[in-house]
Amino acid sequence: MLLRCLCVALAMLCAVDAQPLETIKNVLGGVYSENITLFFMNSPYRVQTDLTVETGATMTIQTGVQLYFDAGVGLKIKGSLYAVGSKFARIQFLPHQSMLNYNYDFPKLRLVDGANVRQGRLQVLFNDRWRSVCTQQTNWTATDFSVACQSMGYGGGGFWRWFRRNNDTMPFVLPKPGCTAGSRTLWNCPGLVDEGRIPLSENLCQGEDDLGLYCWGPPSFSGWGRHWKGLQFLNIPFEYVNSDADQVSVHRQSLSRLEYVDIHYAGYDGTTKNSTAAIWIQGVPPFMNGLDVRRSARDGIFIYEATGPILIANSTIIYNRGHGIVVENTTDGRVFINETAVESNYGDGVWYRHKGGNQLQLILQSLSSDSTKWKRQTSYYEEERPRVEICRKHELPSDAFFPHLIRAFLSNGTLLQPEVLHPCWLTVALPPRLAYTFTLQFVSVVNLNPPGIGTKTALVVCD
Ligand SMILES: *[C@@H]1O[C@H](CO)[C@@H](O)[C@H](O)[C@H]1NC(C)=O
Ligand SMILES: *[C@@H]1O[C@H](CO)[C@@H](O)[C@H](O)[C@H]1NC(C)=O
Ligand SMILES: *[C@@H]1O[C@H](CO)[C@@H](O)[C@H](O)[C@H]1NC(C)=O
Ligand SMILES: *[C@@H]1O[C@H](CO)[C@@H](O)[C@H](O)[C@H]1NC(C)=O
Ligand SMILES: *[C@@H]1O[C@H](CO)[C@@H](O)[C@H](O)[C@H]1NC(C)=O
Ligand SMILES: *[C@@H]1O[C@H](CO)[C@@H](O)[C@H](O)[C@H]1NC(C)=O
Ligand SMILES: *[C@@H]1O[C@H](CO)[C@@H](O)[C@H](O)[C@H]1NC(C)=O
Ligand SMILES: *[C@@H]1O[C@H](CO)[C@@H](O)[C@H](O)[C@H]1NC(C)=O
Repeated sequence: MLLRCLCVALAMLCAVDAQPLETIKNVLGGVYSENITLFFMNSPYRVQTDLTVETGATMTIQTGVQLYFDAGVGLKIKGSLYAVGSKFARIQFLPHQSMLNYNYDFPKLRLVDGANVRQGRLQVLFNDRWRSVCTQQTNWTATDFSVACQSMGYGGGGFWRWFRRNNDTMPFVLPKPGCTAGSRTLWNCPGLVDEGRIPLSENLCQGEDDLGLYCWGPPSFSGWGRHWKGLQFLNIPFEYVNSDADQVSVHRQSLSRLEYVDIHYAGYDGTTKNSTAAIWIQGVPPFMNGLDVRRSARDGIFIYEATGPILIANSTIIYNRGHGIVVENTTDGRVFINETAVESNYGDGVWYRHKGGNQLQLILQSLSSDSTKWKRQTSYYEEERPRVEICRKHELPSDAFFPHLIRAFLSNGTLLQPEVLHPCWLTVALPPRLAYTFTLQFVSVVNLNPPGIGTKTALVVCD
């Protein structure tokens, strides 16, 4: 009885946590193609339908403004957003719905080393650490896979692939979960019920790979459908600013700012009925300082194809159900995360992938005429054209700014002799006063010869 009272008290607390403290003064929704300011004196606002700031328009949100979004509803920015709060009067983006019966616990199962939290190497939190699963060459049933995904808060799932075991993960030996269609979590399946009998010995998994799963369907953890959608920045306008006093380099800087802003319980897109990131950015990212992004139904901040440097400062990214911060296919490469706590998220803290950088795209190439032998080859990103080919031209256009994509192409049969001047070089004009450091951010070396003729490639770094 005591326990029940406690639960009720807790539920009320949660409800209070997410509901407006003051009564709503204004209701918003729809498309803004003119500039608009949300004034503090008119706050709190309730947003009942999706808000869009069109290209060319600027939405200014005054310090201390509170916006309460209905479930699945969000703010889409194609123009600019100027939301600058202060340490003492933060701007708040919150759900309008109360969060009764919200599931605050994260599953004791997770998927790592995949592109998102729905696919990857299965790990189990057991005896105080995360362990990967080996199955002793025994196949799990479709029901076992499905129940494993359900225990992680998804509709269903299946086998994805095997992962080569890395020896820093203690194995969790689970040959036969033996789940039945009625099992609600993996922990109720016969193979796991007696926790004392689960072997954790490395010896039982010698040479064996770890199990990888792929989960699908909308999320299924309780309370997720009451989240609001979040902020979407879609190729918002930017300007070029100098990166240094000598005007050697410029970079793209967004006209939008998000400072001292709370973004809580976002991540449910009512249109697709799927989860999304609390802040979803494509293109040049807005300036981000003093954010508090928590309890998103998926990632905290997802930045897709960033074409300018990313800065996230003085922020807290916590308790999100996806990764904390995802930087996917960036072509700029620069990410600054300063004075920021990224912790207790369900997936990785920071998940980073440079476009064409470390993504091993498997291209299967036939080695022999009967197609029985295949060669793995990495591909590289070719969409952006190099600014200069330094084995033919040795200067950059004078109006070019950093970073540069340069290419050195040695045609077949080129012989490099130490006493002869090397054909590939570049002069870089820099102001005389200062010492500059020229950094190579990404290097990709590719041998274009057909396989099987015995050519070798080596990258030698000299003084
Ligand atoms: C909207 O605001 C921006 C930035 O403050 C300004 O540059 C622009 O001229 C304004 N547009 C209109 C139509 O007032
Ligand atoms: C597991 O499945 C694979 C193919 O999916 C099959 O070749 C293999 O025999 C199965 N192993 C066991 C132990 O059932
Ligand atoms: C993991 O394996 C590598 C190579 O086999 C070995 O050098 C290393 O000591 C191992 N690490 C641990 C923690 O066992
Ligand atoms: C929901 O989003 C996930 C992750 O992007 C995706 O894999 C899945 O297909 C989506 N589901 C639906 C029903 O759109
Ligand atoms: C982060 O906070 C510090 C201390 O208040 C401040 O000096 C710094 O400028 C802030 N960072 C950004 C990017 O605004
Ligand atoms: C990133 O780029 C790669 C190839 O360029 C593509 O396969 C992948 O789907 C992209 N990521 C997303 C999230 O679209
Ligand atoms: C933070 O980020 C900026 C990029 O704007 C960088 O120049 C600066 O040195 C970083 N570090 C600290 C501690 O502020
Ligand atoms: C380079 O030369 C070899 C041997 O002459 C030839 O087989 C190969 O196709 C050539 N590679 C390219 C990329 O032209």
